[in-house]
Amino acid sequence: MKLETLSALAADREEQSILGLFQNDANRAQGFSASTGDLLFDYSKTLVDANVRDALIALCDAAALAERRDAMFSGAKINVTEGRAVLHTALRNLDGGPVEVDGLDVMPDVLDTLQRMRVFSEEVRGGAISGAGGNFTDVVNIGIGGSDLGPVMATHALAPYHDGPNLHYVSNVDGAHIADTLRLLDPTRTLVIVASKTFTTIETMTNARTARAWMLEGGGDPGKQFAAVSSAVDKTETFGIPKERVFGFADWVGGRYSVWGPVGLPVMIAVGSNAFDAFLRGGQAMDAHFRAADWAENMPVMLALVGVWHRQVLGYASRAVLPYEQRLVRLPAYFQQLEMESNGKSVAMDGSSLTVPAGPVVWGEPGTNGQHAFYQLIHQGTDVIPCEFMVGVEGHEPELTHHHRLLLANCLAQSEALMRGRSLDEARQRMADQGLVGDELERQARHRVFPGNRPSTTLIYPQLTPFVLGQIIALYEHRVFVEGVLLGINSFDQWGVELGKELATSLGPIVDGEEGADGKDGSTASLVAYALRHRE
Ligand code: F6P
Repeated sequence: MKLETLSALAADREEQSILGLFQNDANRAQGFSASTGDLLFDYSKTLVDANVRDALIALCDAAALAERRDAMFSGAKINVTEGRAVLHTALRNLDGGPVEVDGLDVMPDVLDTLQRMRVFSEEVRGGAISGAGGNFTDVVNIGIGGSDLGPVMATHALAPYHDGPNLHYVSNVDGAHIADTLRLLDPTRTLVIVASKTFTTIETMTNARTARAWMLEGGGDPGKQFAAVSSAVDKTETFGIPKERVFGFADWVGGRYSVWGPVGLPVMIAVGSNAFDAFLRGGQAMDAHFRAADWAENMPVMLALVGVWHRQVLGYASRAVLPYEQRLVRLPAYFQQLEMESNGKSVAMDGSSLTVPAGPVVWGEPGTNGQHAFYQLIHQGTDVIPCEFMVGVEGHEPELTHHHRLLLANCLAQSEALMRGRSLDEARQRMADQGLVGDELERQARHRVFPGNRPSTTLIYPQLTPFVLGQIIALYEHRVFVEGVLLGINSFDQWGVELGKELATSLGPIVDGEEGADGKDGSTASLVAYALRHRE
């Protein structure tokens, strides 16, 4: 990444204010936003001006972004450390042409599996297939990471469209998770979906075995009441799940990009295949936009460039995702995996060390809740935290529109407050209006100053429909891809999760007391000793 020009521009920014940019340009809001379909992404409340944007866009050309993007969509093996294509976009390529990997068109298999998912989910919803005790009342999805976060996020997001059986998600190996979930369910009327790309993940396999034992003990029939979602179809068979209940996908779908295919099965069961199709079509529409729009009008590209400006150029270490949409309560967690597992790297594609910071820490909570928790630090803390707001114009509760107006007003108020701030003079005036004078006025006023000039972006959409959700998820996927290309990293592997997994395996017998902790560091040995002492 050639950041020299940008660093010079960043130095200029020290004298500039976002409000000042608006004063100099009456059309700034229009000029510094991108739209596609009904979505509008406004990045005008940042210090990006025409010079900065030009310099950022030049990075795209220098990194051959267009070629890299086309290579991804065409099935080239851009995940070089694993020798894999990256084709989650094929899962939503409903109207597209063939997509080839190793000379073979993958679309017939993708569409065939999608059709099998549709039939299966409609049969579950309609009662054509059922459990030992009757129609399925509940579905438990067992998976973790990408086999959990996407469907959990989408199930919450699409609650107004949920007319199928109740859905539950179990991910944590902590027995509390599965115990608390199963306790309330009927083992004869519960469908269990085991979702694991590899079908080896220890948490998922442990939970799956516990669920099977629970079902057997409670009179259920695992032969009829288990389904699997995996790339390792041989392993699902060994586990005992009949072939017709197994939904496979290829290794070119990364876990954190997998909600569009079989991993989305629980969502399809919840909302029906038509709503799920609309979700896919939203993703497909964003793909078409990403492939066709010029960089300056390209929403994923501009979202990425603003991200690069804040993280790599200005050095802001974290990024808050703040949906003003309660049903997007799990979106920040979903984005954490999407962004941090993809771009949390320190080695470039060619093995050299990165010379700029990699992806930021991503975190957040829905508004307005966050306002009453951590916004204090965002407004008055010593670190600048770029905020990514998102909000729908309408909710799904026609009888509660006054709630939604308040929600929208709060979202807009926060980005305005971050930009505008409150000067010491304004704070003094407030204190004077309250009757304070002298030292006390001065002291109190200082606590009421907001530095302002804090950047934020806003993504606004008409309503959180399945189509819009698809657009938003694909938007962020492509944003992560663009940022990865500009950093020169492979966004599609996740070697950083391996070491912990290996050590957990070696610690298993030590924690069980079967092996000693010799060779472990003093801290680990002492913690093991504590655990053994306190075990009943
Ligand atoms: O530990 C990381 C990870 O490999 C993620 O990338 C993945 O989404 C998750 O574990 C679950 O993996 P699987 O679907 O193979 O069980």
